[in-house]
Amino acid sequence: MVGRELAEFDFEPQGMSETEGGSERARPIPRISIQCFCEGAEVAEVLQFAAEDRRLTKAHVSIHMGGITAAVAHYQESPTPNLIVVESRLPRQDLVGELDRLAECCDAGTKVIVIGQTNDVLLYRELLKRGVSEYLIAPISPLQIMEGISNLYNDPDSDPVGHVYSFIGAKGGVGSSTICHNVAWTLSEALTSNVIIADLDLAFGTTGLDFNQDPVQGIAEALASPERLDEVLLDRLLTKCSEHLSIFAAPVVLDRDYDLSADSCDMVLDIARQNVPYVVVDLPHTWTAWTKRILVQSDEVVITAAPDLANLRNAKNIIDLLKSIRKNDTAPHLVINTMQMPKRPEISIKEFEQAIGIKALATIDFDSETFGQAANNGQMIEELNAKAKATAGFREIALALAHRREVRVDKKSPLASLAPFLEKIKIKR
Ligand SMILES: Nc1ncnc2c1ncn2[C@@H]1O[C@H](COP(=O)(O)OP(=O)(O)OP(=O)(O)O)[C@@H](O)[C@H]1O
Ligand SMILES: [Mg+2]
Repeated sequence: MVGRELAEFDFEPQGMSETEGGSERARPIPRISIQCFCEGAEVAEVLQFAAEDRRLTKAHVSIHMGGITAAVAHYQESPTPNLIVVESRLPRQDLVGELDRLAECCDAGTKVIVIGQTNDVLLYRELLKRGVSEYLIAPISPLQIMEGISNLYNDPDSDPVGHVYSFIGAKGGVGSSTICHNVAWTLSEALTSNVIIADLDLAFGTTGLDFNQDPVQGIAEALASPERLDEVLLDRLLTKCSEHLSIFAAPVVLDRDYDLSADSCDMVLDIARQNVPYVVVDLPHTWTAWTKRILVQSDEVVITAAPDLANLRNAKNIIDLLKSIRKNDTAPHLVINTMQMPKRPEISIKEFEQAIGIKALATIDFDSETFGQAANNGQMIEELNAKAKATAGFREIALALAHRREVRVDKKSPLASLAPFLEKIKIKR
């Protein structure tokens, strides 16, 4: 690590709100069919809320009333789906009896989640004995049910586990790519975790230039035939920039058309995050079906804006839209870039935040000398000058996205000599 000694720092998981913690645990759910049979409107509402979440967009969910009795009647006539969710308010013996009836009409391979009323160990054991996959106690939250389903269908050893962080500018040229690359680099250095930057600005992307690489222009090939993409091909299409950072670079030639499909972007990012813990997506400032899909599906979104009126309006529109679609996620993050540019009239940070309704995750000053030099050298800001003011901003953004907190270890403390080891233990999740 350039500049500050990594051993001075310790990274510990940040205190998470329930939403953040839950959304961390609930992973995207594959293309399965889920049929739910509820007894009350409360559980039906929660299931409906979950069904509309980004993590369930691939699954097919239907919600019916009538509880377990309706489920039994239904499956006597019809084949069972991949997953049945039943709510029951019956006492233990009756519930177990009804589940036995349900089991008789269940096809092999169908899983069952029961939502009950009581915290009853005997009931829990009976349910497990009967092959019920999960027992949840009402009232439940949308994230709890998503987490329950996600645990059944995501194998932590083989399925996608990496996080996707997307970066987009509120206008063109506001520094979104620069921030994206610096944050991705910081993430890879500070957490010593593997990171892929996916440059989706196929015609004009700057990732290769920013890292002083003459990269394999791999991302277009991957997007053209995503079904061919596997670990081996991915490896061939990536350009390694440092021990933990690789780039999926844009072709940056103009003799082709780049009409991307949202599905192929989805597939490519899925494969990428099966292979690394962090995929950082550098989006161009455009509004298409695929940019929108990536923003909606990402674990975290960072919107970079300059402090003027057009940026304010655009950032507000993007943030409001994403908030309304991503009800169970943290709000998109706002970064205000190029503050204090000489002679430029600016909207103050306070006014900007008030108008948008969220606090900026970081504000970065205009510093043409440092940013210009770093861009010319093909270096990250921290590599060029670890003391530059922007370095702290990038670190703050990186750690906030990864839900980590930086704790300074006192060099005089007896624990200081253990810092590198503690750090290794704590940053593993
Ligand atoms: N805080 C800053 N101070 C000075 N220059 C900056 C700052 N942030 C970014 N820049 C410079 O602004 C220019 C545009 O940055 P960048 O390419 O990252 O923007 P972008 O939003 O990704 O643009 P595009 O819309 O083309 O994708 C670059 O030359 C970069 O070095
Ligand atoms: Mg850009």
